[in-house]
Amino acid sequence: MVAVVTGSSRGIGFAIAKAFASRGMQVVLTARKEDELRKAAAALGSGSSVHTVRADIRKPADADLMVKDTVQRFGGVDVLVNNAGVGKFANVADFSIDDWQQVLETNLSGAFYCCRAAIPEMKRRGGGYIVNISSLAGKNPFAGGAAYCASKSALNAFSEALMQEVRYDNIRVSYIMPGSVSTGFGVGGESELSTRLGADWKIAPEDVAEVVVELVTLNQRSLASRVELRPSRPPRKG
Ligand SMILES: NC(=O)c1ccc[n+]([C@@H]2O[C@H](COP(=O)([O-])OP(=O)(O)OC[C@H]3O[C@@H](n4cnc5c(N)ncnc54)[C@H](OP(=O)(O)O)[C@@H]3O)[C@@H](O)[C@H]2O)c1
Repeated sequence: MVAVVTGSSRGIGFAIAKAFASRGMQVVLTARKEDELRKAAAALGSGSSVHTVRADIRKPADADLMVKDTVQRFGGVDVLVNNAGVGKFANVADFSIDDWQQVLETNLSGAFYCCRAAIPEMKRRGGGYIVNISSLAGKNPFAGGAAYCASKSALNAFSEALMQEVRYDNIRVSYIMPGSVSTGFGVGGESELSTRLGADWKIAPEDVAEVVVELVTLNQRSLASRVELRPSRPPRKG
């Protein structure tokens, strides 16, 4: 099986790529920063079954190239995980146009560009699996999260419509809505990672990866189309 995981140089995407590679799948890691991608691929240490493609999923041409490169390297695409995402948080009146566009173009349009590029290849192989990494923020909006919540809510609707559209082509579509996961997400990247990783009540990236593996290996007659994954014991409020 050949899997493409967007945003897999770190965090949840890296954990998903690692879980796939450890199960003998051929994996394509993608992100914008080449050096981080190379480090991530080296950390997987699976030689010829791991490939990297530098791609900014906000650019349709990069999404096309990502799929084309994957097909050239491994012969096709069986699994696409739309994981790349960004979080920018501020009140609407203070939110910059640039941040709005970055959030919507990455979290929503990027997933569309990648699906649009990958679906013909999946049809050519006789089927496939698309997993979109959404967020509980998509169903539980909160103040200061308008752009992020809207992007994930739209991704949920996109996923459900797509699921109904491609199911008879043997392409299954699921979306996962994690709660808080211990990564450097939305806090300026890896420099602040250590403080976030201290939060042991949070979901671990590996737990999300385990759910993704379970989805794609579930018997083909069944489809868990929507998954909510939350910390089992978050801090009590108040
Ligand atoms: N962490 C949480 O608490 C949490 C909770 C629920 C849902 N999620 C969702 O889970 C996904 C992964 O989050 P994470 O916590 O693992 O984030 P992360 O640690 O910040 O990693 C994000 C990954 O996406 C890549 N990326 C960002 N923009 C990109 C673009 N335009 N094109 C290609 N790659 C891009 C980053 O690499 P480059 O910067 O090099 O491109 C990186 O590999 C996101 O969709 C997020 O919304 C996270």
